[in-house]
Amino acid sequence: MLPAKFLVFLLLAIVCHVAFGFHEECRETLRAGKLTVENVAQNLAEREILRISGLIESAARTFKEFNPEQISHSPLFQSLIQIKDDQQPCPQPNNTMFTTPKPPTTLPPASTSAAPSSAAPAQTSSASPSSSAAPALESEPFLAPKIHAATHEEDPFHQYISTLHYYMSREEHVCNNKFTDLNSVTEDQLFGFFSTLAANQPGPFCSLCHRFTEEVQNRVFRPNQLLITDDNFHFSNLVFSHLPSPKALCSTIAPGCHDDYAIKVANLTESVICLECSACMSITNVIVHKFLLQQQVVDSLFTFLRGNLFHNLCAELCITFQGHDMPLFPNGFSYDGCQAVLKKQYYSFISVASVLLKPERFCSLELGWCELNEQPNALHCLREMCLEHFKDTPQTRWLCSQIPDRPDSADEYLNIKRSKIYKEKKDYHNDFEVHEEL
Ligand SMILES: *[C@@H]1O[C@H](CO)[C@@H](O)[C@H](O)[C@H]1NC(C)=O
Ligand SMILES: *[C@@H]1O[C@H](CO)[C@@H](O)[C@H](O)[C@H]1NC(C)=O
Repeated sequence: MLPAKFLVFLLLAIVCHVAFGFHEECRETLRAGKLTVENVAQNLAEREILRISGLIESAARTFKEFNPEQISHSPLFQSLIQIKDDQQPCPQPNNTMFTTPKPPTTLPPASTSAAPSSAAPAQTSSASPSSSAAPALESEPFLAPKIHAATHEEDPFHQYISTLHYYMSREEHVCNNKFTDLNSVTEDQLFGFFSTLAANQPGPFCSLCHRFTEEVQNRVFRPNQLLITDDNFHFSNLVFSHLPSPKALCSTIAPGCHDDYAIKVANLTESVICLECSACMSITNVIVHKFLLQQQVVDSLFTFLRGNLFHNLCAELCITFQGHDMPLFPNGFSYDGCQAVLKKQYYSFISVASVLLKPERFCSLELGWCELNEQPNALHCLREMCLEHFKDTPQTRWLCSQIPDRPDSADEYLNIKRSKIYKEKKDYHNDFEVHEEL
């Protein structure tokens, strides 16, 4: 089991890091990372909300211009989405991405929280004397913005950024503990380490994440215009356009990717090429086995989407198309029908994706990131990771100092000489470097 082995190495590295007393550096790294997380989260949320809020409007404009004679219709799709006899009025979208252009991203200082009503628009006019005397800006608690849901608690972007930020704020827990053995490594230290990497040293992650996400979006999240009718195609396209771009997704997971994104993504170093196969196999394994094949998880994601993205999309479209002649929907457009279509499409998407994303199939046959029957092992890439990245991270520097410099001796030391497949750049790497525009 490779991830477990790799994890033990990382744990070891953290233990050693503490033993070697890099506390101050650890704290500084966390503080820098925390600022990165705050800035990137705000920047990403503003742009993503702006982008999403324009999608329906521009789709509706396009839809209106279609020539009814040139649009092919699916009888099933139309019978689901058409206006029924007992038609209810269109519901309102929830107060979320479509209607809130700029969510507040910082809470007022604790001293002013006695006036809870000042939380929303009235904020500017209610400047109390205590808030103007508030200490420096950095003492304000950070509230990660929300993008995809009506409430902060439900929003995955808010939840993830908050978790990252939380671990980066626990300096004393992440950096200061003393241990005597491996079992005493705390969750704080482990997640603190991963958060540090995500915010400060994402290394090969940016390129792997971007190229993987792009391939998945192109192969799985793109309706095929040749295989389906126009009504289905344009509707699916509008739904999929709500997905974050690879750049937005990867800079959310690792805010350290955000600045100079294109340069980081196009930097196909030795460690990036070495890690492709194990990264692809690990992530597709998790997606298929922890999500696509788990009915409960699939259902709860559907419930989330139905109450947020699907609800807003259907409500907005219902309101927009009311009383208009839409060539795409000749029998009208109903909210309930729209939800029914989305439910059907969601579940058939899940069953198609669980076939397309099978790890061996996707990583070897589709992407060519793995050789046929390759057994990936991230340990194979530890020397490459040390050369390029880990030597700059306080937690892993000691670990890397133990590994011999020469590839041969390193592989012998790591006991991987016989199993390692040595990788070189292939055509798809060269094409990516030359042609990709980000
Ligand atoms: C959004 O509105 C719909 C319909 O009114 C409701 O079912 C859903 O729970 C709401 N979602 C949130 C997050 O409030
Ligand atoms: C690519 O990554 C390597 C390893 O981190 C780094 O040394 C190099 O400067 C990077 N190249 C560019 C063009 O950024």
